[in-house]
Amino acid sequence: MESVWAVVLSLVYSLVAHFICYQAIKNFKDMFIKAGMFGKDLNKTSEEKIPEGLGVVSGAMFLISCFLFIPIPFLDYSELQFTQFICALLSICCMIFLGFADDVLDLRWRHKLFLPTIASLPLLAVYFVSGGSTTIIVPIPLRPLLGYDLHLGVLVYIYMGMLAVFCTNAINILAGVNGVETGQSVIIGTSIAVFNVIEIARDQFAAKHLFSLYLILPFIAVSLALLRHNWYPSKVFVGDTLCYFAGMTFAVVAILGSFSKTMLLFFIPQVFNFLYSVPQLFGIIPCPRHRLPKFDRATGLLGMSYAKFSPDQMGPGGAALLKTLSFLRLAKVEWSPPSGKEKKAEISVNNLTIINYLLKFIGPTHERTLTIYIMTVQVVGTIIAFSIRYGFVRFFYDVVQ
Ligand code: UD1
Ligand code: MG
Repeated sequence: MESVWAVVLSLVYSLVAHFICYQAIKNFKDMFIKAGMFGKDLNKTSEEKIPEGLGVVSGAMFLISCFLFIPIPFLDYSELQFTQFICALLSICCMIFLGFADDVLDLRWRHKLFLPTIASLPLLAVYFVSGGSTTIIVPIPLRPLLGYDLHLGVLVYIYMGMLAVFCTNAINILAGVNGVETGQSVIIGTSIAVFNVIEIARDQFAAKHLFSLYLILPFIAVSLALLRHNWYPSKVFVGDTLCYFAGMTFAVVAILGSFSKTMLLFFIPQVFNFLYSVPQLFGIIPCPRHRLPKFDRATGLLGMSYAKFSPDQMGPGGAALLKTLSFLRLAKVEWSPPSGKEKKAEISVNNLTIINYLLKFIGPTHERTLTIYIMTVQVVGTIIAFSIRYGFVRFFYDVVQ
């Protein structure tokens, strides 16, 4: 009963945080431009300066809201849960700080991969001291081979560190269209909240899901405030700060709530986007600074964007990979033979993002409509995730009814 009141108060805190955050972004955005933190909207004709990195305001509002919430459930709780909450906030706070540093300094890709690993250390430490399990239950089809459970030891910590790296970067690379970074974060956050509520109602590890809810509700609230400014036509850009903040919050609640597999199911579009991006991320084919869709000034619509390069710029296996992608109709590839004496052959391939892949089917689209389509894909992903979690799961694990 007490926890019902704590959830109600968490909702009230979140609502207040939402309105303050919305106003704070409005008040602070010009200061960002004055401080030189702005970008150009690449999909617009106007040259207007758009303030960049406003995710830091939502991050700060989230932290304040969570700090003020601590006395509500945690004074009565065990010392352990209090420590877990503080360490969860420490990891998220560290990630916001490093994300903001990235926005200010425009770090390189190898640094971006490194930052979430560092920020997840407080989380891994509290998992360790709270006697976190390093044993996994083997899925039913594999049990004749591996037995009922497996002791993975240190591999579990490596997995958790990698989960933080994946969640943060996966959101950051599904980007470039107004509202997409924040929109996906709000939908994934809401999916997690719905999952938590269902599990609490089924009385399944209710304490862990309550813990997750106390973090995810204010997260949704401040992200929604940011989305209202970031929706087409964007008045502010969210920066890598928001992507890291969101990814780390999801990793934290999933690890401490012991539902990382379900959480990954909510990342279905991001998983596909990551897998499709692998050739560009790992340098098998060149990756331009921006892979966002191409804006057609004449029509005002967005179409597929292309990477153009000569064959010698590809890594090993690049040619075979392009042929396969083209054969499977997974990418639009064009080879132009060398023309004249000096000129080299040129290859053109659409940037490997699911946003471009979507545009391959629907053709040139208005930016707002494209965001709505991407959000629809995300919601369909959530519906599939819930069907797997509550339907097909019985083929893999012993389910408690
Ligand atoms: C990631 C993507 C990159 C994409 C970029 C867009 C990879 C490997 N990296 O890079 O392909 O182009 O995000 O966010 O996939 N911008 C817009 N409209 C928007 C959002 C952003 O024009 O709706 C532009 C603005 O110029 C803004 C800049 O993108 O200043 C921000 O890019 P940034 O977040 O720094 O790019 P990355 O995260 O490095
Ligand atoms: Mg980014």
